[in-house]
Amino acid sequence: MKFIPYAKPSLINVDKKHLIKAFDSTWISGGFYVDSFEKNFAKFLNCNKALSVNNGTSAIDLVYQSLSLKPGDEIIFPGYGYMAASNLALKYGYKPKFVDVDPDSLCIDVEKIEKQITKKTKLLVVINTYGNICDFKEIFKISKKHNLNILEDAAESLGSTLNNKQAGTFGDFGTFSFQATKSVTTGEGGMITTKKPQSHFKKLSMIRNHGVDKKRYFHILPGSNFRLTNLQAAIGYSQLKRINFFKNERKKVFKLYQNYLKDCKDISLQKFSNKVNPMIWTLCVTLSSKKKLNRDNLIKKLLKRKIETRNGFYSPNQLKIYKNFKSKEIKISDTISKNIICLPIYPGLKENEIRHISKNLIELIN
Ligand SMILES: Cc1ncc(COP(=O)(O)O)c(C=O)c1O
Repeated sequence: MKFIPYAKPSLINVDKKHLIKAFDSTWISGGFYVDSFEKNFAKFLNCNKALSVNNGTSAIDLVYQSLSLKPGDEIIFPGYGYMAASNLALKYGYKPKFVDVDPDSLCIDVEKIEKQITKKTKLLVVINTYGNICDFKEIFKISKKHNLNILEDAAESLGSTLNNKQAGTFGDFGTFSFQATKSVTTGEGGMITTKKPQSHFKKLSMIRNHGVDKKRYFHILPGSNFRLTNLQAAIGYSQLKRINFFKNERKKVFKLYQNYLKDCKDISLQKFSNKVNPMIWTLCVTLSSKKKLNRDNLIKKLLKRKIETRNGFYSPNQLKIYKNFKSKEIKISDTISKNIICLPIYPGLKENEIRHISKNLIELIN
């Protein structure tokens, strides 16, 4: 069996055709593809507008800047998930308050959110981890009661739906990433959607472009340059047309893993409610903490067998940069972050490869 990578972007000739078209147009910063990608993206999500940015972190940064948050303001985050949003909070001097996650869904545990809310809380950040979608019915009740904006970090969940509604359209803001391992990729890239009035969308759009509106070099707000290039947008435009194919392929791979791993009692796969139709982004396996398996050794051993896997995210309690924000309330996040191993998943991963990966994983666990 040849080397099996953890991820592999699906890039085909039509993607190349659009990229070359953008290149040949000489419009390599803004242009037709940036506008069309944004339009088609909004149409796909069934929302008013979408704003492209150069990556998913910038999308979150834009939201923070648009809300004029101040140092010392508190923001709620899940204790398990990619740390882009909380890292930015540290950078800006906001205070992160972590809430534990549900061990099955790997999304924020809605029952534990209110305990962390204080008078200083200004924003509720939730993450649709690995393609799942958070329990928004309960999250809406909390945000309403405490008058909090919700930032829905949908970087890992483009194409997933909850009650047939697209991920990224639940929060006051939805942010996306098109980094190379994402289901729809532009190499690096991102997008924002918002339920806020048009004036707020305009503010986001101006901050993306150094606070400029229509008049060139006339800065109305201090902003950033977070623009996506027309070259990247050309790839995104093309990829988005194949999103249903990506979703079906990823689901097929997930089902095969489910089947090949079903008899292994020492692991569990991420669970999705029957209201969620996920675009599975990561094939996440949680090793039983009872068996005390050494996850990092397992990753090394699998790599020796030419199977590339990844560890899960580190909880903030395990990261020095969060030493001032350690929490005793995120025990599940602390445990799972030591026990999660992510297996290869991408369109085109073959059944015999999935069988091979599963067989080797089980063999090394036993
Ligand atoms: C949940 C989540 N949020 C934010 C980001 C940041 O996106 P980007 O890498 O495009 O900056 C990522 C990862 O890429 C992510 O997985």
